[in-house]
Amino acid sequence: MPDVRVLPADAWSRAVADAFVERLRAEPRLRVCLPTGDTPSPLYAELASRDVAGDVSFAQATVVLLDEWADLPPGDPARCDVRLRRELLDRLAPPPRFVAIDVDGSDDETAARAHDVAARELDLALLGLGMNGHVGFNEPGSRPEDPTRLARLAVSTREAAMARYGAAAMPSAGITIGLGRLLEARELWLLVTGARKASILRRTLRDPEGPDCPASYLRRHGRLIVFADEPAASLL
Ligand code: F6R
Repeated sequence: MPDVRVLPADAWSRAVADAFVERLRAEPRLRVCLPTGDTPSPLYAELASRDVAGDVSFAQATVVLLDEWADLPPGDPARCDVRLRRELLDRLAPPPRFVAIDVDGSDDETAARAHDVAARELDLALLGLGMNGHVGFNEPGSRPEDPTRLARLAVSTREAAMARYGAAAMPSAGITIGLGRLLEARELWLLVTGARKASILRRTLRDPEGPDCPASYLRRHGRLIVFADEPAASLL
C-alpha cells in the first residue's frame, strides 16, 4: 500500500511545501518532474514564497516538465510551460534549470524522443490526478510500460484546456512523459485535492490496477506518497 497522507484542506499546500523544502534541502541538485493544473497551483505559490523568504533555493535543481499540449501556440495561457513559469519558475531567484518540451521547434516524434531522455533518472516526480484517472497525458488505455510520446487526449482533457485553463483553441494531442519513465523515478508524489476527486482517488488506490485508470499503475512503485486533502480522501 502506498503511503497516503491525508491533510486538512487548509493545511494541504503548506504541508506538501514542507515536505518538498525538506527534500530539496537534503538534495539541492534534485531532478524533479512537475505537473501543471489547478491542484499544484497553491503549492507553487507556497514554494515561491519560501524561496523569496530564503528558506530554500532551487538554484541547483533541474525541473523537467511533465507534459505539454502539442498544438497550442507559444505563449498560450494554458500552455504547461507558460503556466509553470508564471506560477513558479519566474518567481524563483535564482531559477532552477528548466527542461520544457520542444513542441514549437521540433516535430512531435523528435520532441517526444528528446524529452524521454530528459525524463530519465528523475529523483522525484510530482503528479496530478485527472478525473478520468489520467496522470500527465497518460489517458485511459495507457499501459505501465508506455514511453514518452505524442498521446491522444480524452475529450474531457481537451475541454479542460479551454474551459478551465483558458486556452485560445482546443488542443487535440499532447506530449507526455510515459508511465514507463514515471515508474522509473526514484520517488512519486501524487497530489489530489477536492471532493470531486474522491471517487477517482478511491478507484486509483483501492480497486485492481488496470488501463481504465492509468494512475492505478502508480501503486507498483515502492515509493509512492499520496498527498490528499480530507475532501479528496473522503471515500478511502
Ligand atoms: C497537467 C497534467 C494533468 C493534471 C490533471 C489534474 O500537467 O499532467 O494530468 O495533473 O488533469 O488536473 P487538475 O490539477 O487541474 O485537476
